[in-house]
Amino acid sequence: MITSIGLENVVVAETDLSLVDGQKGQLVYRNYWARDLALEHSFEEVAHLLWYGHLPSADELAVLKEKLAGEREIPFHIKSIIDAIPENADMMSVLRTAVSALGTPDHGWPPTMEQVISLTAKMPTIIAYRYNRLQNKEPKAPRADLGHTANYLFMLKGKEASEAQVRALDAYLILTQEHGLNASTFTGRVVASTRSDLVSSITAAIGALKGPLHGGAPSEVTDMLEAIGTKENAEPWLRAALEKGERLMGFGHRVYKTMDPRAVALSKVASSVAQDDPWLDLATHVEKVALKLLEEYKPGRGLNTNVEFYAAAVMRSIGLEAELFTPSFAVSRTVGWSAHILEAANNRLIRPQSIYTGTIPAE
Ligand code: ACO
Repeated sequence: MITSIGLENVVVAETDLSLVDGQKGQLVYRNYWARDLALEHSFEEVAHLLWYGHLPSADELAVLKEKLAGEREIPFHIKSIIDAIPENADMMSVLRTAVSALGTPDHGWPPTMEQVISLTAKMPTIIAYRYNRLQNKEPKAPRADLGHTANYLFMLKGKEASEAQVRALDAYLILTQEHGLNASTFTGRVVASTRSDLVSSITAAIGALKGPLHGGAPSEVTDMLEAIGTKENAEPWLRAALEKGERLMGFGHRVYKTMDPRAVALSKVASSVAQDDPWLDLATHVEKVALKLLEEYKPGRGLNTNVEFYAAAVMRSIGLEAELFTPSFAVSRTVGWSAHILEAANNRLIRPQSIYTGTIPAE
């Protein structure tokens, strides 16, 4: 029997949604370069592309925006559940619990576009509600006149964000909407393959995204940069970490053995929103030293900067705190998760095998 630990290089599905080329460092969403979509289109336009298969006309875009805006409010019972969660629970656990509680009898099988839009619309509201409650602030009601990203920032900050901040976050959210069969998308598809329901699939995917080897990395990038503190300390700090066998957060990727194209695009976005920011200056220096040391300590492994490194830089530069980094990733990836679940709704049950290494009892 062939084994592939971590399912590396195992192909389990065909998809029209995205191409992730790890050798060439390319990311395509349905015939478009993701980097171009991030710079030239909005969150809603790219979601439309992934969900419906084409970029929207002006009328189609207006309809989708209206539907999303109309679904942003979260029900009272969700607010009560969020309020009941202890304050020290991390935001991803809160998001997972609240999304799970959205499940209702009509969230059955097969998943519908209405369910997908409703869930996608509510994710930012759940996060912003919790964030404000923890700060003893009255949560802002969602605003129907703002786009998905602008409204998210409005609910978090309590005031409208600048155009540049909205564009920067939009670029990040578009670049992370979809990425093939990453761990969380695969998790969602496994649940969907049992013909469970959309909410169960997305709840499971949130659990997978939370881990530091997947979507949990960007806040750890911030921790690492804070611990390093100065440019002079970069090399001794990183060297000591590698000597101890630790992983450098924001580096390495299962598929990309060259630069992660999302990191390339986001580093440009970060430089445009955070000009002269000493933190970005430190991050750029740390990246350079880390790449040199990774080649020294882990030669030939193809370890490069991944999306999470510059995700931290972009989100920090627009004033989002580290606890919001991974939840914001969930806001965008919900689009890809749900597109996969819609696409694979009638696929065969996912059921791999394992090799038993224990003993067999006597008959
Ligand atoms: N720092 C130091 N060494 C590393 C790193 C890293 N960031 N990543 C991999 N390695 C080393 C491993 O120790 C291993 O070394 P070995 O051959 O001596 O045993 C080798 O590179 C291969 O590592 P694997 O774990 O087999 O690689 P895998 O493809 O499973 O890992 C992963 C990919 C999990 C992303 C890994 O690179 C990692 O842990 N990175 C840090 C966390 C991170 O940034 N995650 C975000 C990924 S992007 C995303 O999910 C959106």
